[in-house]
Amino acid sequence: MSAESPGDVRPAVSQLPAYRPGKGAAQAEAEHGIIDAIKLASNENPYAPIPPVVDAITAAAVGVNRYSDHRAGELRSAIAEWHGVGDDHVTVGCGSVGLIQQLFLTYVDPGDEVVTPWRSFEVYPIDTMLMGAQLVPVPLADGAFDLDAVADAVTERTKLVLIATPNNPTGPAVSTAALRATLEQIPRRVIVLVDEAYREFVDPSFGDPVHDLLPDFPNVVVSRSMSKAYGLAGLRVGYLVADPAVVTEVDKTLLPFAVNLVAQAGALAAVRHRAEYQPKIDVIISERERVVSELEAAGWQLFPTQANFVYLELGDRTDGIYVELERRGVVTRPFAGEGIRVTIGTPAENDRFLAALADVIS
Ligand SMILES: Cc1ncc(COP(=O)(O)O)c(C=O)c1O
Repeated sequence: MSAESPGDVRPAVSQLPAYRPGKGAAQAEAEHGIIDAIKLASNENPYAPIPPVVDAITAAAVGVNRYSDHRAGELRSAIAEWHGVGDDHVTVGCGSVGLIQQLFLTYVDPGDEVVTPWRSFEVYPIDTMLMGAQLVPVPLADGAFDLDAVADAVTERTKLVLIATPNNPTGPAVSTAALRATLEQIPRRVIVLVDEAYREFVDPSFGDPVHDLLPDFPNVVVSRSMSKAYGLAGLRVGYLVADPAVVTEVDKTLLPFAVNLVAQAGALAAVRHRAEYQPKIDVIISERERVVSELEAAGWQLFPTQANFVYLELGDRTDGIYVELERRGVVTRPFAGEGIRVTIGTPAENDRFLAALADVIS
């Protein structure tokens, strides 16, 4: 056998770093020889799905000998009704990451530029490299976006601007008023993604881009997720709200039946029963506030988070603190040399994180 690797891999792929998912509790237990680890590494919802969702998933399972509805028509309609827009303004995808990749497939050619504040969601540079495009990172200012610098970074080669609000991993959100001022400086031929994976945890005073921006800016695309507030991370359902002309083009890039039958059924039940999630969302928000105030009381300076996570800026201490937390059974998400992101879990999980951190730092 030859030592050469098979196939002639596209340079864009051979140079691509693999996506690094948050470490699972079982893996940390095996690595450190511990039991009872908790995962606060992937911004998941700590609560199990509500019974109507479990029932819908179970009922759908017996039908998986058939393909799903490729367009997820019923789910689109339910989401459109929820947000007070026409069905033609909504598309559903395999997680919001699936839809973000579809946006790249729809709008970005090799050599094009993609502007994003950075550090932000790790998928953005991966998708950019995959297309052979150029990422134009705009440095964060105190963990938040410098939106004027974002607008200034747009050139005639820019195809996409990516704004995660709240930002992953730092946590600050931007208001629709601030976004409007930025959008006024960006040409309409540039698609501006407002990635709201954590929307349900954000104070309503930040505004709703679907209502505040979309009617005036047809180049705005709002992405949302069923993974976080609605606790369906394992099902993989996200959606976009956008101008119908955008939806039509993006739809062409959907992998056939990418939103599987079980996922559609579960997400539809979650949308129909969404009011039942509010108490759990409220607990996560109040736990976030508690964790923030306990950390601040212990002397930590934090960015103002609007998401279901907090970020500790640790610089060179990142790796050491991350490993020590993990040895104490608390799995967080490190960004080497920068800091760690910690998901808000149940009250008991948050207590464990706070106690472990105090122990590590002492
Ligand atoms: C900013 C941001 N966008 C999108 C996603 C992906 O969510 P989904 O599970 O819908 O693909 C995440 C998940 O971590 C995220 O942080």
